[in-house]
Amino acid sequence: MVNSHSHGGNLASSSSSTLRHVSVFTMTTASRRSKKRRKLRKQEVNIRAKFRATKESRPIISPKIKKYWLQRYSLFSRYDEGIKMDEEGWFSVTPEEIAVRHAQRSVGGGVVVDCFAGMGGNSIQFASLGYHVIAIDIDPRKVEMASNNAKIYGVDNYIDFIVGDFLQLAPFLKGNVAFLSPPWGGPSYKNINNFTLDLLKPVNGYTLFQVAQTITPNIIMFLPRNVDVCEVEQLSWLSSPPLNVEIEENYVHGFLKGKTAYFGNVAY
Ligand SMILES: C[S@@+](CC[C@H](N)C(=O)[O-])C[C@H]1O[C@@H](n2cnc3c(N)ncnc32)[C@H](O)[C@@H]1O
Repeated sequence: MVNSHSHGGNLASSSSSTLRHVSVFTMTTASRRSKKRRKLRKQEVNIRAKFRATKESRPIISPKIKKYWLQRYSLFSRYDEGIKMDEEGWFSVTPEEIAVRHAQRSVGGGVVVDCFAGMGGNSIQFASLGYHVIAIDIDPRKVEMASNNAKIYGVDNYIDFIVGDFLQLAPFLKGNVAFLSPPWGGPSYKNINNFTLDLLKPVNGYTLFQVAQTITPNIIMFLPRNVDVCEVEQLSWLSSPPLNVEIEENYVHGFLKGKTAYFGNVAY
């Protein structure tokens, strides 16, 4: 353990030297141990402080939206970077994976009119593909949040946000694709067996579709999973000649989240 040979001399001096070395060794080990303990304590304090800070900066989650908050990264993958949402936004934003799909399907969508922009879930994905987006919402606070969210994704330069009523603005707009993600009437839509188009807000689906046609015949509608598919197909007959129509189911992690109807050139 201790090399007494290097010291030479008699046994007494050698053993005292050994003792000195042992005590030096013991002190070194003890001080190393206490240094380690101090380091561990410091780490523990840091971890506790970090935990407290995250807890304090965590938004207040009402029981109503807890379920949606748990899915926050499937709504916005960059949620932690400062995404803003209000209560309605939590249950009405289009899940990111589906919004990406909508954008990919908007072939030829030089200008996309997002008629019910909400938290910007769809507008952000249209803009991410380089389309120019006109994003409309009637609620100024939602437009503020959507604009903040678009900045986080670095696409705010591609989006013109407008606070207003889509029904009144539509006659003054032109675009390559009109995207409709109207309110479904809150989470209770799930309890309906057959969701008919008259249940859509702010007006029934037929009127919405006709108003959207003043912008372009290339229309995408994001609808509840329990929507009456026959009624959706009938919308294509509101145009003369009838528009191509295609309806797809949208799943996230194996759960059916909604159905999307594509009309005109965006239908396969
Ligand atoms: C289902 S949410 C849209 C969600 C959006 N796709 C997203 O990913 O965030 C419907 C939005 O329509 C807005 N809205 C309701 N009536 C409107 C109207 N007449 N004109 C424009 N926006 C309206 C609501 O404020 C709400 O934000």
